[in-house]
Amino acid sequence: MTAQAASYVLVTGATGFIGAHVVDNLLAKGLKVRGSTRSAAKGEEMKAARPQYASRLDFVVVEDFTQIGVFDSVMEGIDAVIHVASPFFYDTTNNEQELIIPAINGVKSILTASAKAGTVKRIVLTSSFASIVDVDSTPSPDFTYTAQHWNPLSYDTAVDPKSTSVVAYRGSKKFAELAAWDFVKTEKPCFDLVTLCPPMVFGPVVHPVHNIKQLNESNSVLWSVAAGVDPLPGSRVPAWIDARDLAEVHVQALLRPETGGKRFLPAALEPFSYGYAADIMKDTFEWAKDTVTSNYQSGQKPHAPYGVDGQTVANELGVKYRSFKETVVDFVGQVKDTLA
Ligand SMILES: NC(=O)c1ccc[n+]([C@@H]2O[C@H](COP(=O)([O-])OP(=O)(O)OC[C@H]3O[C@@H](n4cnc5c(N)ncnc54)[C@H](OP(=O)(O)O)[C@@H]3O)[C@@H](O)[C@H]2O)c1
Repeated sequence: MTAQAASYVLVTGATGFIGAHVVDNLLAKGLKVRGSTRSAAKGEEMKAARPQYASRLDFVVVEDFTQIGVFDSVMEGIDAVIHVASPFFYDTTNNEQELIIPAINGVKSILTASAKAGTVKRIVLTSSFASIVDVDSTPSPDFTYTAQHWNPLSYDTAVDPKSTSVVAYRGSKKFAELAAWDFVKTEKPCFDLVTLCPPMVFGPVVHPVHNIKQLNESNSVLWSVAAGVDPLPGSRVPAWIDARDLAEVHVQALLRPETGGKRFLPAALEPFSYGYAADIMKDTFEWAKDTVTSNYQSGQKPHAPYGVDGQTVANELGVKYRSFKETVVDFVGQVKDTLA
């Protein structure tokens, strides 16, 4: 696929944290975008905030994407899809119903509609490092996770009511991504597939957020450090990426012909920790010296217990990663100025 071939891109989850950055990146490159959302109001708000793109941006409301067929009527003219939408929250009452089934069925639903439409040439799927990392293993320091690795979690464990929502989320991403690869293998549709497995994603927001409670999961944990959470959160993984860089990865994965059929692990080359984030906040913002806890060892470089291969994406997709400092400063500064 080339920039010329992809002209009208359907982005699911377009009003979410990552999806909105993807929308903006596509628009800035001159493509036409159709966003899908469950909320007409959020779609209207996204459009109203981008008057310069009024002629190249439209939204469709897809209320329940777990039903096969719901995307069928929104595919007209679409030649590429970036499927970002998936439930990402940990405050669940039923993990299987709220996280796992929607993630898998959302994938089946969009792939089925794309195959039926016959015009789609490529689908880029936002998977996660959660579908790669084996949290129960203790790899040696010279071990490096790459896009070839798969989280060994079983479906039974993921849906077990005794499992935490964090475990269920990891299963939701793994089994949704597997469903996509299985679909392409068995159905041999008109499109090829690229999957992206980013670790923690942070950065300024460009989607509709009116208060701190509406921040997405990953940013809300980072903001809690600025707001004074004590003790600092522990990081589940040492790897991260800025949402603006991840948006560029999505669009490069869509536009470059040679990426078809590949799985990528986009991750910044430096590890992060919430202690490092706390240091950056205190060094940069006067007010943070009063709010950020001092109940941690400052001045410690983040420690990565294993490697994460972000270099392959940098090489193959031509993406340059921002520093953690830039990401934290941009995000925390934005939230302090506009939401706090
Ligand atoms: N943030 C991270 O650290 C991170 C890391 C790795 C991977 N990811 C993946 O990146 C994607 C986006 O995450 P995000 O951080 O941008 O989260 P987000 O802001 O919560 O966005 C998630 C989007 O998915 C849509 N969605 C959620 N559940 C849905 C459902 N049941 N039916 C239809 N749409 C649904 C929402 O659409 P509405 O507009 O309809 O509400 C929302 O726009 C997800 O696939 C997530 O797994 C995120």
